[in-house]
Amino acid sequence: MLKIKNLHASVDGKEILRGINLEVKAGEVHAIMGPNGSGKSTLASVIAGKEEFEVTEGSIELYGEDLEDISPEERAHKGVFLSFQYPVEIPGVSVTNFMKTAINESRKAKGLEDMPAKEMLKLIREKSELLEIDRKFLSRSLNEGFSGGEKKRNEIFQMAMLEPKVAILDETDSGLDIDALRIVANGVNKLKSKDNAVILITHYQRLLEYIVPDFVHVLHNGKIVKSGGKELALELEDKGYDWLKQEATV
Ligand SMILES: Nc1ncnc2c1ncn2[C@@H]1O[C@H](COP(=O)(O)OP(=O)(O)OP(=O)(O)O)[C@@H](O)[C@H]1O
Ligand SMILES: [Mg+2]
Repeated sequence: MLKIKNLHASVDGKEILRGINLEVKAGEVHAIMGPNGSGKSTLASVIAGKEEFEVTEGSIELYGEDLEDISPEERAHKGVFLSFQYPVEIPGVSVTNFMKTAINESRKAKGLEDMPAKEMLKLIREKSELLEIDRKFLSRSLNEGFSGGEKKRNEIFQMAMLEPKVAILDETDSGLDIDALRIVANGVNKLKSKDNAVILITHYQRLLEYIVPDFVHVLHNGKIVKSGGKELALELEDKGYDWLKQEATV
């Protein structure tokens, strides 16, 4: 579903991604690992279409369609979801109301009417039960005073409601405690299906014990220097990244 070919991207004239090739098929979970500053978050931003990055070479295709001229909003409507896409605090707008708006925006883009209130309530109920989200949480003001774990819960809830085709989760926050890791892991495992795919950016081998990836890729200096199965994550845990850096420069 997602095909990235020889992707090069820069910010302020500085090249950060230097020829990424990656194919993600429906039903797969890909983990992206790699040292700080290797370009993981940049890759996520470029897939989502964030405008501060310039694609200088290569392409990203979703279901065979080149995303080059497609805005971040349209990409989202086509099923690309990036965690932390909406980190804004919106005082006075509840988690539920924000979600209603997001869903109806997405329907409007597809030429559909607003979702009937009854159907919306049912969907919210179903998804919040699936993810064990407390009623009280749904009426809280978006991101206002959210703890790290609550932010995660909100993100996973957004993902559950929007049912993306490709979900990119950037778990760079070193402050995630075991509960937050579990929220992410449970959410991903429950929402994963044969029709969607997950790209999970993480430093945590521990997270990959809960969400078992089909592929693990190591990014270094803007390139994927190694790909493998889930055992690669264990090897990295054991050996660190230095051996790969050496391989990459040879
Ligand atoms: N908006 C920006 N302006 C300037 N430089 C940037 C910008 N975004 C990223 N970079 C640079 O690009 C490089 C890659 O950053 P990126 O955030 O993609 O790394 P990362 O692999 O996600 O690292 P971490 O593991 O620390 O999250 C870094 O050198 C960073 O400073
Ligand atoms: Mg990052």
